[in-house]
Parts: sequence; structure tokens; C-alpha cells
Amino acid sequence: SSSDHRLPLKLLIAAPRGFCAGVDRAIEIVERALEKYGAPVYVRHEIVHNRYVVDALKAKGAIFVEELDEVPDDAPVVFSAHGVPKSVPAEADRRKLLYVDATCPLVSKVHRQAERQIEKGQHILFIGHEGHPEVIGTMGQVPPGQITLVETLADVAALPFTQDDALSFLTQTTLSVDDTEDLITALKARYPQIVGPKAEDICYATSNRQAAVKRIAPASDLVLVIGAPNSSNSVRLVEVAERLGTDARLIQRASDIDPSWLEGVGTMGLTAGASAPEKLVREVVDRLSEWRLVQEETLVSAEENMIFKLPRQLTE
Ligand code: F3S
Repeated sequence: SSSDHRLPLKLLIAAPRGFCAGVDRAIEIVERALEKYGAPVYVRHEIVHNRYVVDALKAKGAIFVEELDEVPDDAPVVFSAHGVPKSVPAEADRRKLLYVDATCPLVSKVHRQAERQIEKGQHILFIGHEGHPEVIGTMGQVPPGQITLVETLADVAALPFTQDDALSFLTQTTLSVDDTEDLITALKARYPQIVGPKAEDICYATSNRQAAVKRIAPASDLVLVIGAPNSSNSVRLVEVAERLGTDARLIQRASDIDPSWLEGVGTMGLTAGASAPEKLVREVVDRLSEWRLVQEETLVSAEENMIFKLPRQLTE
């Protein structure tokens, strides 16, 4: 209308974005556990790295803790999508706790590969980010001292192994596709004997979301990524946009957007990490529409139809 003085904003929305099959499954596991066993259901670590998701499950009766010793003997406990070291189910068995493992099947696949590599007598070089729960979980699949974390090219150069050592590599599922390729190339150059998975272990959701950002970032003045600061795949999306020369910001909710960010922005990109619900994307679009006349365009760079089965103990 003639009274509408909002400037236009072209909004390029990436697809795929948001929830992956592992996150969908993990949330459904907690919901079904609440239905089957009744509240409270304990969850060890944030089920997925998103405060909105965690708060919604808390409201339904989930109690989030960091360690098993915070779980009473008679309560069910769910392990988060990121996976856990072997010591965690071992301790749960020892205490005869009822537990449900929501580890993403693509993370479990890496765990099994790690076991096989150790059986073959290989020392594992694990590419990942120190301190992330997935890294702690995967490194905790094998005896200490048989796996070494590699984060940077400098780490590769400093490794103490020789070309006579039996070596293999594995990766975290939520890494930068480009950085990981560089690290694997460096590992293979230094250790031609190294063996690894045919494709790296970065999951379909991580690589699809990065590819989708590569499509929207070059045309955008600013890219917003909805995700938590401790969400590895979300932080990587910010880096992917920045590496293409586009400013990018990680936000948890629409209320994090500072209107001054929109100054001089004619085209904005928008995406969401694998643990961020679509509701938060709509919330951002609504918020932007308070200031600008938003014209949405979704750029689809891949179709996803992955679904993971639920653990049998919740479907019987
Ligand atoms: Fe699994 Fe990848 Fe999602 S490892 S939890 S599908 S980000």
C-alpha cells in the first residue's frame, strides 16, 4: 500500500536446511520414551544442540544432565544424537539402568569402523574438533592411546608416526567438507600407507547444507545461519559463507537479529543448521518482515529423503 515504506529485501532461503534424519530420530526417541515410560525421562547431554528443542522436551518431562551419575537408578535415560564413549553404556549396564541410545546411525557407523580399524592393528588418526561430544564419543570407542585427534594441517605435520606404521583415518560427521579434504590430502601425502573410508565420514546432511549455502552466499550481502554456538554443523555453515567473501552471522532466535545488520543489505541469505527447527526459520522471516518488504526465494540444491529407524525397544 502507499503507506508501506518498508524497503524491499530479497531473501534467499537455502534448501536443504534445518533438521536432518538423525535429529528427527533423536527427538522422536525422547518423545516416545516419555510416552512409553512416563516422565521424567533423563537425557544425557543436550539431545541435539538446540535450546528451543531442549526446552520443548523439558516442558514434556525430559530432564537433561551431563553425566550418568546424575540419573537415579530407577529412571530411564536417553543418550544424545552425538554418541557416547563405550564407558557410558558400560556404566549404565553396571547400574542396570534402562537406557535408549539416540546416537545417530551415521555416527554409530563411524564407531563400528573405529573398532574394525583397531582389530586390524591400525592406529587411528581421527579428524575432528577437540571437546565436541561426538569426538569424545568416537574416541571413546577404542582403547586410549590407539587414536589421535587431528584438527589442523599443523597437527598433521607434527604427527610422530612413520611410513612403516599401520595407520587409518576417520572423521567427525559434521566437519567442513573443504577443510577435511585438505586434511585427508595432507595425511595421504605424509603417510601413503594410510587407509580410510571410501568417502569421508561427513554425513549427507552436513555436506548438503554446506553445498546449499555455497549457492546462496555469492548472491547475498549477508547470510544468517540459525543454530547454536555449540552446534558444529551450524558453525561450519557460517564459515562456508565467509569463505566465499560474504558476511555471515550465527543466530539462535529471531530476537538475536540487530536491525542495524540490515543497513545496506538488499539480498539476504538464510539457512539453518541440522539441529534447528523450521519454526525458527519462519520466526526469522516474520521478524525481517517487520522492517522490510520480504520477497522469499528458496534455492533447492538437493532433495533429501533420509529416514532412520527407531530403536526396537520403542516400537514394540
Ligand atoms: Fe546424523 Fe549428520 Fe544429523 S551425523 S545427526 S545426520 S548432522
